[in-house]
Amino acid sequence: MAKRTVVTMPGDGIGKVVTPEAVRVLDAVGFEAEYVHGDIGWDFWCSEGNALPDRTIELLRQHKLGLFGAITSKPKWDADAELSPALQGKGLVYQSPIVRMRQMFDLDVCVRPCQSFPGNPLNFIRRSKDNPNSFEEPKVDTVIFRQNTECLYVGIEWTNPPAEVRKAFETHKNFKLFAATPGEDLAISTRIFTRGACQRIVRAAFEYAKKHGYKSVTICEKPNVVRETSGMMEKEAQKIAQEFPGIALWSTNIDAQMMWLTKNPEDYGVLVAGNMFGDIVSDGFAGLVGGLGFACSANVGKEVAVFEPTHGSAPKYEMLNPSIVNPIAMILSAVMMLDHIGEHEKANRIKAAVAKVVAEGKVRTYDMARLPGGAKSISMGAATTSQMTDAILAAL
Ligand code: NAI
Ligand code: MG
Repeated sequence: MAKRTVVTMPGDGIGKVVTPEAVRVLDAVGFEAEYVHGDIGWDFWCSEGNALPDRTIELLRQHKLGLFGAITSKPKWDADAELSPALQGKGLVYQSPIVRMRQMFDLDVCVRPCQSFPGNPLNFIRRSKDNPNSFEEPKVDTVIFRQNTECLYVGIEWTNPPAEVRKAFETHKNFKLFAATPGEDLAISTRIFTRGACQRIVRAAFEYAKKHGYKSVTICEKPNVVRETSGMMEKEAQKIAQEFPGIALWSTNIDAQMMWLTKNPEDYGVLVAGNMFGDIVSDGFAGLVGGLGFACSANVGKEVAVFEPTHGSAPKYEMLNPSIVNPIAMILSAVMMLDHIGEHEKANRIKAAVAKVVAEGKVRTYDMARLPGGAKSISMGAATTSQMTDAILAAL
């Protein structure tokens, strides 16, 4: 197979720590690739007024495969204050580089697997049905498909909307409720769904379910209240489900789903949702299988795909040397990249190595050992980031 080129975008904070750890594992498994570095993140906002410089966009356009660590983003007032003095007052507005990247390359299918590794002390347990004095650990194997480019994340929003926007809203009878609200007291964020994007995310979910033998796809929205957008997604799901006769289509509301996920998480296979609810429900499920240290993801478009842990830059651990953060979320994101390009054997070997290290329980980062995070976690018995990677390499 031709050597692949991967654009590595470590970004900020612990993104810089975990990205090279994933590359170490990819090297060890024999994945032949060239890595080119892409600048992204807060430093480039401060120095260039652009957190996703054009040269990085060009690299992604060219190589189509990215591994992304994490970025820092801060509120508007910090963004303005930290911008290099030469760039201030020029009307530059901070935009999240990852949100921009998803929109620019139409990375509209976000995949977030939440699968428990046996032996992980962070796995969810519940009281057993038959003996209320004992506990059981349900096997969680849920893969969330989150629409990645639309919904409330489109950034079409106003506080004190311009007169013509307000006028348009006044054509809706329900706006009467706000008729007396002064503009400066009125904030509007729009939730936009398109039929094509609904079809694409639902179809991706069904195809994944079929390929991996899941018995159900659950659509998790709120069509009884958010009738137009959630309704469109649900309708499209009903149509697409017809093409997959062996797979049941279930429907849950996001609020109820957040309750059920701690009652019967083992019942959910593939789950599909719009951007906002997908964000919420995937964090919910991630909490059952170890949280941010384990939560991996893929952002997939028609041409470009970018793989990233769902955690952020964890600034409070950024300066710790040696680092204590868990590299597994990043390593599992690299596994998703291998699967995406058909390197299944290598992907499976890494996953098995992670499973072995978790099951043995000898090497645990502070989060897995449930220790307070900080420089002293190591003396309390936590493994460092690189010790965790070393253990995974040894298990390979
Ligand atoms: P965060 O995910 O960076 O960290 C929250 C907490 O989770 C950390 O303090 C730490 O206790 C724990 N944690 C995170 N990753 C971990 C790991 N690999 N191993 C062990 N523990 C881990 O979220 P937070 O603190 O809300 O945001 C920090 C910065 O990251 C902000 O600037 C935020 O905007 C940004 N962010 C970026 C994301 C991205 O790049 N996709 C996603 C989420 C936040
Ligand atoms: Mg999130």
